[in-house]
Amino acid sequence: MGLRLRLILVLMIPLILVAGGYGLFRVRQERAQLLEEDRRNVALTARAIQIAVENALRDRQISDIRRLLSEIVEDQEQIDRIRLFDRGLSPTLVSNSLSIGEEVPREALRRVIETGQPRGFFERRGKDPVLFYFVPLRGRKGGIQGAMEVVHLAVGVEQRVRSATLDVWLRLGILLLAVGALAGLMLQRQVLRPLSRLMEGIRRLGQGQPGPPLPVERRDELGRVAEAFNRMAEQLDGARLKLLAEAERTLDLEQQVRRAETLAVAGRLATGLAHEVGTPLNIVSGRAEFLLQTLPPGDRRRPDLEVIIAQIDRISGIIRSLLDMVRAQKPEIQPAPVAAVLDRLLPLVEHAARRRRLTLSVSLPADLPPMQADPNQFQQVLLNLLMNALEATSEGGKVQIGAARAQEGGRPGVAVTVSDTGPGIPADLLPRLFEPFFTTKPPGQGTGLGLAICRDIVRDHGGEIRVESSPGRGTAFTVWLPEAAGSAQ
Ligand SMILES: Nc1ncnc2c1ncn2[C@@H]1O[C@H](COP(=O)(O)OP(=O)(O)OP(=O)(O)O)[C@@H](O)[C@H]1O
Ligand SMILES: [Mg+2]
Repeated sequence: MGLRLRLILVLMIPLILVAGGYGLFRVRQERAQLLEEDRRNVALTARAIQIAVENALRDRQISDIRRLLSEIVEDQEQIDRIRLFDRGLSPTLVSNSLSIGEEVPREALRRVIETGQPRGFFERRGKDPVLFYFVPLRGRKGGIQGAMEVVHLAVGVEQRVRSATLDVWLRLGILLLAVGALAGLMLQRQVLRPLSRLMEGIRRLGQGQPGPPLPVERRDELGRVAEAFNRMAEQLDGARLKLLAEAERTLDLEQQVRRAETLAVAGRLATGLAHEVGTPLNIVSGRAEFLLQTLPPGDRRRPDLEVIIAQIDRISGIIRSLLDMVRAQKPEIQPAPVAAVLDRLLPLVEHAARRRRLTLSVSLPADLPPMQADPNQFQQVLLNLLMNALEATSEGGKVQIGAARAQEGGRPGVAVTVSDTGPGIPADLLPRLFEPFFTTKPPGQGTGLGLAICRDIVRDHGGEIRVESSPGRGTAFTVWLPEAAGSAQ
């Protein structure tokens, strides 16, 4: 049941009860009034008949009285029957011979004869009420000789009551309808419209598209709710902007880390270089010094040899300082849940995906065991793969992250896959992807070290990295790392 219907019902039910009570009261009152009117009319007529009958009785003209009574009953629509009783309550004269044997209302007659006061009562006979009215009959000296019963069938009273009832209910119905319609209109304007504006605001806020602030037109509860909502929307927007700034700052930091990793690989390369170049350089330097010692002072070849030795020293110095810079980073292996790593990583790349209008989706099975990995380095691997995928995929494309349990050489582990709907990689380039400095990006835009770093890190962890790609069908990189010990079920 909608709020509007409920509120209208809450408002209308007491109103209907009160109006119904009032209607019943009015109908009863109407009936009582009609009967009272009827009784007054009959009382007046009875008074006139009483005088005529008393006069006739005084003259002892019984036959006249009978005729008089029949005439009255015929003439007067209101009167249906008249009976005369003596003091002993026996009927002496009846206007209508059919009712001769009818029951005598002794109690009422006795009271009228005793008190000398007329009285009457209504009794329901069939559909309509019947009025029994009694008046005393006095003799010449004023003493009460008997009583007269006037019977009147109150035809039409019920019909008039019915039409009065219809009238009362009709008026109340129209009143209730008008009040209901007015209440509905007021509810719509005062409550439902502001509420639906509030709901629309909440919906838009939920969808991340806050609209203009809600109008605060009133100082009542709904106005205060709108005010509070506006304040909350403002705060949320502030928080959202702060979060966005924070995410961008973190992305910056991550890129700095990436550069540092790149330098680490450069360092590793330098180590190799130092090793490979250092050995022949030592031999060259040794031979040059030996030659210098064998040359007599003043020999004109000495300065050349001294230059050679000095330059070799310089090269050795450079290599030594390069080596000093190299500090091999050992991975800090621990149980690393993929979901936790992704939780930290996703906010960093979500922004980049939004900027490029790409859909980024993650689906991880619930029972994925943690990996045996350095979380920071594993994060670095995923970041490099994700950045490559985002950079390769054009607007409207999809980048998906998936994971599954997988065995590698009989060892249990977890395979995480980053796939994209990008252009794919030609088969002849696939073997070179992981080579340091291999890049297809224009000079200055890619170092070509991203995948080389990934391969180094994965190797340090005893894992595997693979690529599956074909032009036009997208690319999928899969990183397999062993499962953390003790997590096997
Ligand atoms: N998902 C992919 N789709 C298509 N080509 C890819 C994808 N990932 C990597 N490549 C190709 O592999 C090359 C090497 O990638 P790598 O990450 O090693 O370096 P880079 O991305 O070019 O440079 P950097 O990582 O420093 O930005 C890329 O230049 C690109 O040609
Ligand atoms: Mg890259």
